[in-house]
Order: sequence, then C-alpha cells, then structure tokens
Amino acid sequence: MLVKLAPSVLSANFFDLKADVKKLEEYGVDLLHVDVMDGIFVPNISFGIPIAKALKENTNIPLDVHLMIDRPHRYIKEFAKYADILGFHYEAGSDVAETLKEIRTLGCKSCLTIKPCTAAEDIFEFLPLCDMVLVMSVEPGFGGQSFMPSALPKLQALKKEIDRLGLDIDLEIDGGINGETAELAYKAGANVLVAGSYVFAKEEMAQRIAKIKELRYNEL
Ligand code: DX5
Ligand code: ZN
Repeated sequence: MLVKLAPSVLSANFFDLKADVKKLEEYGVDLLHVDVMDGIFVPNISFGIPIAKALKENTNIPLDVHLMIDRPHRYIKEFAKYADILGFHYEAGSDVAETLKEIRTLGCKSCLTIKPCTAAEDIFEFLPLCDMVLVMSVEPGFGGQSFMPSALPKLQALKKEIDRLGLDIDLEIDGGINGETAELAYKAGANVLVAGSYVFAKEEMAQRIAKIKELRYNEL
C-alpha cells in the first residue's frame, strides 16, 4: 500500500507561505492539508476561503481541505472551488449523506471526518458516499498535540469494513503524526498521513519528509 503524505499548512510560516509551499513541492508531498477552523465547532480560529484560494492558484499540489466548522453544508459550494478533497465532520450538524453527495456533485472527492469521541461504526453506513475517511488522533483545534492511540483500533475497524464492502476509500489520520506514530497508523491501515508540527519543525524538513515517505517501501 502506498502512503500519501499531507503536510498541514496550519504549522507553516504565514508570513512566508510561498517559501514553505515551494519547499514542499521540491521535497515531494502528495497533498496539502488545509485546516479551516471557525471558533465554534473547535475552540480556535485559523483561516478560510482566501487562503484556500491563494494556495489553489499558486501550487499544483492537490488541496485536502479539512473543515472544522459548524454546519459545514453552508460553505461547501465556496470551498469546492478550491479543494480537491473536501472533508467535514460527522459531528458538525449537517446532513451527512446530503453533504457528501453535494461534495461529489461539485467535482471534489468527499471526506468524512470523525473526532476522538466518535466510534468507527457510527459512520459505516456512509462509506459508499466517501472517497476518503479521516480519523482524528487528537481533539481537533490545535497543531502540536500528542497522538491518541485510541485512533488505531478505529483505523483497523474502518479498513476492515472498507475491504469487506470492496470500496476504494483512502484512510487518513490527522494529529500527532511523526516518524514513529506514522508507522503505527500505517500498520493499522491508514494510507494518508497528515503531519503539521513534525514536518514544519525548524530544521531538516527534507529528512523528516523522507522518513515518512520511506514507509512506502515497507510491506504491511
Ligand atoms: C488539528 C488539525 C491538524 C493539525 C495537525 O485540529 O486538524 O491537521 O494541524 O498538526 P500536528 O501534526 O502538529 O498534530
Ligand atoms: Zn486537519
């Protein structure tokens, strides 16, 4: 199974975003993870549509937009203009099936995301409408938190159900991913790894990216 790396822009230098994105292009990453927070669904505010637009217009790296906003259906049309993958939270108060369908209709890949408090089984019924599922391994809202191992059995359960249904769905993990936790998540079934603080730590970005990408060559 190939691993895709999705560095989170939340940990980039906003005064020189261009330089950070150029580095990611040079070192070779698969997706740019774009964390949108509204101060209501999560206790933090990050950025919104103008940053998604600026990224879309200035890089060819596909955008993986992670909406951490209340009632996300209100903003799907706007973000779909810039996202390649558009994800929202199961817990955020929108009609899950309708929102997943709308995302696909607008030409994006759909992603359903679950917080640490939500069981994998709660979203089984929606899997046929998902192109990706995102399991949070921290409480959403902030970068730099520690990985919660309780995400691992959820990845395993989702992977098992996805395989049982014969679906082609990416399984993404987000929160506290580093060289060690990346391997645990990968072994539990994740094939898309979000990493913020680990990738953007001051030195050695190239080596850090390479370390995660090495996983591509290990057999499960
Ligand atoms: C948290 C965000 C994550 C975060 C990851 O709410 O969804 O994407 O940026 O940051 P790290 O990798 O530092 O945990
Ligand atoms: Zn995220």
